[in-house]
Amino acid sequence: MTETVDFAYDPFDAQVMADPLPYYRTLRDEYPLYYMPQWDTFALSRFEDIWQVLEVNDGTFVASEGTLPPTTVLAKHNTGPVEDPPLHPLPFHAVFDADLYGEIRRSHSAPLRPRSVAGLADRIRTLANERLDLLLPRGSFDLTQEYGGIVAASMVCGLLGLPDDLAPQVLAAVNAGSLAEPGVGVEVAAARPNYLGFLTPVVERRRADASGDALPVVDGLLGYRLPDGTALTDTEAATQMLCIFIGGTETVPKIVAHGLWELSKRPDQLAAVRADPATNVPLAREEMIRYCAPAQWFARTVRKPYTIHDKTIEPGQRIITLLASANRDEREYPQPDEFIFDRPIKRSLAFGRGQHFCIGYHLARLEIDVLLTEWLRRVPDYAIHSDAAKRLPSSFQWGWNNIPVEV
Ligand code: HEM
Repeated sequence: MTETVDFAYDPFDAQVMADPLPYYRTLRDEYPLYYMPQWDTFALSRFEDIWQVLEVNDGTFVASEGTLPPTTVLAKHNTGPVEDPPLHPLPFHAVFDADLYGEIRRSHSAPLRPRSVAGLADRIRTLANERLDLLLPRGSFDLTQEYGGIVAASMVCGLLGLPDDLAPQVLAAVNAGSLAEPGVGVEVAAARPNYLGFLTPVVERRRADASGDALPVVDGLLGYRLPDGTALTDTEAATQMLCIFIGGTETVPKIVAHGLWELSKRPDQLAAVRADPATNVPLAREEMIRYCAPAQWFARTVRKPYTIHDKTIEPGQRIITLLASANRDEREYPQPDEFIFDRPIKRSLAFGRGQHFCIGYHLARLEIDVLLTEWLRRVPDYAIHSDAAKRLPSSFQWGWNNIPVEV
């Protein structure tokens, strides 16, 4: 199904970037498999379709052109399957097919496994309370950036071996990197040398001196050997750390601040969550993730023919999975545009599914729990200045960057 005279969807269109939600509804209802000839790409918008596609794990879908290709990549149309890139210099591992991708992912994800993450609760709580000690006496501040933003960025600094006092700079760099110009998209990691400016020195320092506290993300990458027996260079290791740097920094704060805003619009729900935080914060967390998660879509390039909705997608063509549309699919969630803190959520695509399932899943949920719990415990009343809140247009992270709050 392609565009009609009346309807056209393009994730890089300025109007779509300013508010994609009405487009998603039309896509789900009328064009569940929507073809964009300019990008040779199909958009999938229904929960069930995306659930099925992301489950396929046999090399049919590979993120060979990146999970977030900009228009410069999509404008080039492939005439057949896109093979894995050469090993040297090693690009970001997510572009490889399962084996190599999985090995590199496993090599540096130990601190994000459930048991390791559980040990981070106290640190998150300390960071949250340090922020509140500083912010509450001020009376008004930016709930996204100054509360959760600094906490999440500090956690990323800890994971990646950056000093804590770099957290504000990390946060600012990641926020700037997610902005997207209409018609362009978000440039690939390689176009953000300032990120590597943070990460490469960490790898260099660690290689020169591996004493001191454990640094499993960096150590795992330095200890890893490619199938040809070679080790990663400093830049190659730093490149593999980009996704934690980005994914760990900006999603959680936007969800927490936006979620607290939604609660404040519904005093009965806010009162219910406050009344029993141990039970209700985890429920509210899941609804906040569904309702507020800012990432819009991720891409895969098709390597083997795949048929869906009676159409065969050919090798070299791409699909984008509109996760933000799946989160609002009325076929999965009744009244999807309502925020209902304790709605049953049986299945979720907010963290993706299958091979590329978010490696920060456990940490993200713990951070959100702690940030919400400490906020509700210490802030008896708060009001959001909705007129001054800012949600910048983006084809990638369409989230509330700034939410001024008064306490
Ligand atoms: C609520 C917060 C978060 C949400 C909603 C979220 C969502 C996602 C989604 C949807 C993907 C899949 C992308 C794809 O299919 O291509 C993903 C991947 C990823 N996320 Fe998260 N994320 C969150 C927090 C985090 C945190 C805290 C970290 C790290 C500390 C993180 C690190 C990553 C990484 C490294 C990947 C890439 C996985 C791969 O391709 O192997 N995320 N995330």
